[in-house]
Amino acid sequence: MSEVGADKIPTHVAIVMDGNGRWAQARHLPRTVGHRKGVEAARAIIKACVKFEIKHLTLFAFSSENWRRPSGEVSALMELFLSALKREIKALVEQGVRLQFIGEREALNEKLQQEMARAEEQSAGQSRLYLNIAVNYGGRWDIAQAAQLAVKDAIERGEPVESLTPEQLAGFTALADQPDPDLFIRTGGEQRISNFLLWQLAYAELYFTDTLWPDFGEAELGQAVADFSRRQRRFGMTSEQVGGRV
Ligand code: FPP
Repeated sequence: MSEVGADKIPTHVAIVMDGNGRWAQARHLPRTVGHRKGVEAARAIIKACVKFEIKHLTLFAFSSENWRRPSGEVSALMELFLSALKREIKALVEQGVRLQFIGEREALNEKLQQEMARAEEQSAGQSRLYLNIAVNYGGRWDIAQAAQLAVKDAIERGEPVESLTPEQLAGFTALADQPDPDLFIRTGGEQRISNFLLWQLAYAELYFTDTLWPDFGEAELGQAVADFSRRQRRFGMTSEQVGGRV
């Protein structure tokens, strides 16, 4: 990490935290123990982002598809989110973290929804790190709800729906007020986006690692950032245009 210049640090990192279950199973422990370790890993990564001066971090905690898991695991995860939120919010605020949740909240337990709203309010004045946690989130859901809102808005303003631009649609997506992720990381060996930020990842650099999420710490994040810093981002242009090597 020390060799990475400040201008090469990604502004926004998005992570699919995969491998908690396998981490636990390899140790003959219940999968929920892996998830608890996963929360510890998330805490360490948040701290590392503050240290590396990464400004935005988006973590995929629970996808729209995760409801298909055994009901015991789903309820254990919900309990874990609730207890972690209650326990961690103070330390997050002290570190300057602004917490925001993205996803369809209505389907979540009432108590969890309340705690999420409370944590958002408590951290609203912070701006050192924008931490977004995706819970009951799906990239297709995000695009569909943005399309609904954008069309409604166009009709209300008396604009023809045909004049709707990608930029206008982007203004209604879940992370509309934040820059798109520069770096996408997936731990746990799979090489998929799994319906995460489909719209926002259009130009992200993709980084996959076999390391299981509970083993992913500051050093591993540093490696991902160092890898990112060596890539040439062209955004559709030629390498000559962006002034780099071919
Ligand atoms: C992936 O492992 C983990 C999840 C789907 C659960 C959610 C993540 C955490 C509990 C960690 C951090 C949480 C917060 C709130 C920041 P998996 O169960 O898919 O693992 P496997 O692929 O090995 O089965």
